[in-house]
Amino acid sequence: MESFLYRNGELFAEGVAVSELAERYGTPLYIYSRGHLRSQFQALQSAMAEVNPLICYAVKASSSAAIISTFAELGAGADVVSGGELYRARRAGVSANKIVFAGVGKTESEIEYALKEGILYFTVESEPELERISACAKKLGTVGRIAIRVNPDVDPKTHKYTSTGKKENKFGVNLERAFEAYELAARLPNLELTSLHMHLGSPIMTSDPYSEALAKVKELCLNLKARFPTFRHIDIGGGLGIAYRPTDNPFDLHAFAKAVIPPLKELGLTVSMEPGRFLVGNAGILVTRVQYVKENPFKKFVIVDAAMNDLIRPALYQAYHHIQPVRETTEPLLGDVVGPVCESGDFFAQDREIPAAKQGDLLAVMSAGAYAFAMASNYNSRPLLAEVMVSGTRHELIREREALEDLVRGERTPTW
Ligand SMILES: Cc1ncc(COP(=O)(O)O)c(C=O)c1O
Repeated sequence: MESFLYRNGELFAEGVAVSELAERYGTPLYIYSRGHLRSQFQALQSAMAEVNPLICYAVKASSSAAIISTFAELGAGADVVSGGELYRARRAGVSANKIVFAGVGKTESEIEYALKEGILYFTVESEPELERISACAKKLGTVGRIAIRVNPDVDPKTHKYTSTGKKENKFGVNLERAFEAYELAARLPNLELTSLHMHLGSPIMTSDPYSEALAKVKELCLNLKARFPTFRHIDIGGGLGIAYRPTDNPFDLHAFAKAVIPPLKELGLTVSMEPGRFLVGNAGILVTRVQYVKENPFKKFVIVDAAMNDLIRPALYQAYHHIQPVRETTEPLLGDVVGPVCESGDFFAQDREIPAAKQGDLLAVMSAGAYAFAMASNYNSRPLLAEVMVSGTRHELIREREALEDLVRGERTPTW
């Protein structure tokens, strides 16, 4: 995480001391590096330059306006999976004609909203969804552009909850049935078949699943090109991994580009991709303050002020997040780092050698830019955290910390 480095024993976010940000904005606190967001985007863009893909940032990874607009300024589109994400993307300045809309359960109102906005295409996940988009487009007197999400049955070798391109997953249409689905789409009114989409899962650390999937969809793409004059585009999804552990190798963009560019060029289609984690995962950290250090006969617990409701990945996916002290120390402590929520699943590290920490110390939970704040909840009636963005020596609040009143906003007690 090259934007979060120590200087004279103090952890910095770009040019600002993390302790200064914690003082100023309070803890727990999400901090993002704008420089990292930009450099990840630019690295991907230049690695893939030969096929000049439209990079549609997967808004679900982190949906803050400041993050979406950082990518929009660089020319990014957006991959959205709900009316809410579409709203956020438009509000953050993403052009409608660069927005793609995936998800297995799009409602009529979401489809109508997207049609009215004029999005680039719907990533369609089933035959009934094709019928619904056709009906909505007909009702509005417009045309819905369509990519069918093909499930190529490729194992991305990741957690079963984040594997999406295997035959038992709920996503997309099986490869064997895909051509028929396009034929159905062609018979329905008010649809234009432009694209094929696939997304295999996340995080994927090698290019092999992408190569395998491209080989599997090649024949279908060529048949679609021959059959439908409007078919012109392929979306290879997201899923590109990041290093979560100091010992992990970073995702090898060069090897990825070398593996996917030749088969993409052979297809002769325009290209898009939908990375989320790769762009934001290592751009963010969660800073938390130690409240207590507690010992029982079996274990030591470092109890911090952040919790599973702020970052659920360890509880949900047994995900590893590296934990670093904000003031450098080499002294270790073996134990758990846990939050205050009333669940045994509320932990950031278990039986791990972590930096020795005492009450009042600050810890940084690393790689907390993707699927972190975006998955936060108010569980245990905990207000959502503040988010700050840093650029060089500048820093600015990009989301206010919720107040207690925010917890009950919109609630009603029955009058009887
Ligand atoms: C359809 C689709 N595209 C893109 C992504 C982004 O994945 P990642 O953040 O791993 O790049 C996801 C993640 O769930 C997805 O479902």
